[in-house]
Amino acid sequence: MAGVKITDTILRDAHQSLIATRMKTEDMLPIAEKLDKVGFHSLEVWGGATFDASLRFLNEDPWERLRALRKAFKNTKLQMLLRGQNLLGYKHYADDVVEEFVKKSIENGIDIIRIFDALNDPRNIRKSLEATKKYGGHAQAAISYTTSPVHNNEYYINLAKELEKMGADSICIKDMSGILLPYEAEKLVKGLKENIKVPIQIHSHFTSGIANQTYMKAIEAGADIIDTAMSPLGMGTSQPATESMIASLQGSPYAPDIDLNLLLEITDYFRELRDKYLDEGLLNTKVLNVDVRTLKYQVPGGMLSNLVSQLDSQGALDRFEEVLEEVPKVREDLGYPPLVTPMSQMVGTTAVFNVLLGERYKMVPKEAKNYVMGLYGKPTVPIKDEIKKIIIGDEEVYTGRPADLIEPELDKLRDEIKEYIEQDEDILSYALFPQVAIDYFKYRQAEKYKIDNNLVDEEFKTYPI
Ligand code: CO
Repeated sequence: MAGVKITDTILRDAHQSLIATRMKTEDMLPIAEKLDKVGFHSLEVWGGATFDASLRFLNEDPWERLRALRKAFKNTKLQMLLRGQNLLGYKHYADDVVEEFVKKSIENGIDIIRIFDALNDPRNIRKSLEATKKYGGHAQAAISYTTSPVHNNEYYINLAKELEKMGADSICIKDMSGILLPYEAEKLVKGLKENIKVPIQIHSHFTSGIANQTYMKAIEAGADIIDTAMSPLGMGTSQPATESMIASLQGSPYAPDIDLNLLLEITDYFRELRDKYLDEGLLNTKVLNVDVRTLKYQVPGGMLSNLVSQLDSQGALDRFEEVLEEVPKVREDLGYPPLVTPMSQMVGTTAVFNVLLGERYKMVPKEAKNYVMGLYGKPTVPIKDEIKKIIIGDEEVYTGRPADLIEPELDKLRDEIKEYIEQDEDILSYALFPQVAIDYFKYRQAEKYKIDNNLVDEEFKTYPI
């Protein structure tokens, strides 16, 4: 056996978890050549937040970044995270947009697409999975891991079997909150290994301080690939540290075939970058602490901080504990959705409303209503009639595949932004983040105009009238 394989997340999840996804392409490229020599199974480089933050805060075209990384990484597979029918956005897209997005992602350099759905509804995964395979990518289907009376190993194994049957090239257990306990992971991976043939990858977060042990037990149970982050941006709410995990496996049959010395040179580079982020105030050391509340409340760290800022803006920080008590109740009422985007926002905001208004479901966010109406997919367990009645009254619940309700959108989108289009990919940026993309397109045009203008100025200087 060749040892466990490593996906390093420093170019995606690590900086998303620790510095609000602000790593720039220019910070990534200088170390690419060395990173490319390590022998990682893959590097995770792209996802919803990296795409959004590039356009919104960094004035970078995420497609340009992808092409630059592709050029720099000659040997290592590049990986992205995709939210099924939501792509990188927050709503369902028509099938033609999904197919085009997957096609362009692969064309521009992605090798492996990890596809998940917040509700674990395979109907929301199918289209992007099939498109990934059609365009020659590796389709990894992810299980959003959560805990509830219905989320047991039998449920996860059945789901994994269905995803494998659908054509998944590998399965990921995606623990976005860092709540997968070591001995649970061992049982789950064993069960999956007995029932599916494709490789199994584990993704967790260090948030509650248990992920290293979880990885070790999962590896011993047969997990093929683990997600880690180079130590300068590892741990805290990010992934376990790559160097430490690799060292921990030395002397065992699981030891990855990776040169630790080369890795430490890369560590030096990222340590300097981390110091810069600390100086700039981008990295707040608070996110590096172990947060065991996530174990108690079973909610992701990011959701905890969102709740704090929501309550803070209402001057109601003192109701934080009450809201945290309300979250599991809302979750139960809504059929135990995993707390991952967009369900974490829906459940969180509903819990805040319930507590602050002093009456449950007096006010419900539109997205949560749409979810109850079936427009996001199938809840893990049916929502009770009395809850449905309070939230959506007598409205009929849709039980089909949500995306079947959406007409093809690509032509319309292309038409809407025709004055800005410089590449086909622009249509997809606009589909995902309309306002942000347009602001970026305007910036791009202005920059170009500035450059042209400078050229003219130079000429005037040379040949004064
Ligand atoms: Co993650």
